[in-house]
Amino acid sequence: MLEVDDLHVYYGGIHALKGIHLSVDEGRIVTLIGANGAGKTTVIRAIVGLVKLNGGSIVFRGKDITRHPTHQIIRQGIAVSPEGRHVFQNLSVLENLELGAYKLSTAEFREQLEWVYSLFPRLEERKIQVAGTLSGGEQQMLAFGRALMSRPRLVLLDEPSLGLAPLVVEEVFRAIEQVNRQGATILLIEQNAMAALTIAHYGYVLETGKVALEGPGAELLKDERVRNAYLGD
Ligand SMILES: Nc1ncnc2c1ncn2[C@@H]1O[C@H](COP(=O)(O)OP(=O)(O)OP(=O)(O)O)[C@@H](O)[C@H]1O
Ligand SMILES: [Mg+2]
Repeated sequence: MLEVDDLHVYYGGIHALKGIHLSVDEGRIVTLIGANGAGKTTVIRAIVGLVKLNGGSIVFRGKDITRHPTHQIIRQGIAVSPEGRHVFQNLSVLENLELGAYKLSTAEFREQLEWVYSLFPRLEERKIQVAGTLSGGEQQMLAFGRALMSRPRLVLLDEPSLGLAPLVVEEVFRAIEQVNRQGATILLIEQNAMAALTIAHYGYVLETGKVALEGPGAELLKDERVRNAYLGD
């Protein structure tokens, strides 16, 4: 579904991505783990055309989308739940969700909204609340829910569990699995390597802009290097 090859990104003099490759098969959950500053968010920004590429290619469903404008990439069926609770603070929960559903008919919108509410009942309870007054965890759920409103084929999730209480983390990971079972392919960026590798079919470990390791989630979980560096063993 997604094929990324030899991606290079510079921020001024900083070589942030140094030839990243990754591939995401349809129907899978693929995770990208790595320390702070490894380049994970930059990979997502590169996929959706939000940073200038200094090299490499991105192919989505057989179509080369390298250097295409962001709005065109999104229209192909890619949705992003960005890092750090980027929701529209002054709009209500429902209005935020409406903005995610930019291309649906009224009937499709209702159906999608029901689905997002069933994944995150809290959002339905708070639908008229101004998003800026939601708790951090609730804002994170809203960012995820908003990404799902467009019926994406591929969802890019940037640290959806960051800063959440353990029970809420569980809820978010259950939602990711459910979204995947219902047909969406997932690229999941996480600091919570244990949880991410547990649900992922395949994983990549990023170190300073390079893929240091890759393999099936279950194998990476057993890998000594991963255990030492990311699982606190
Ligand atoms: N706009 C920018 N200008 C300059 N440097 C940047 C910019 N954005 C990111 N960087 C640098 O690029 C590197 C990769 O950043 P990135 O945000 O992709 O890391 P990350 O893996 O997502 O980290 P984290 O886990 O902390 O979110 C970092 O060294 C960061 O300081
Ligand atoms: Mg990041």
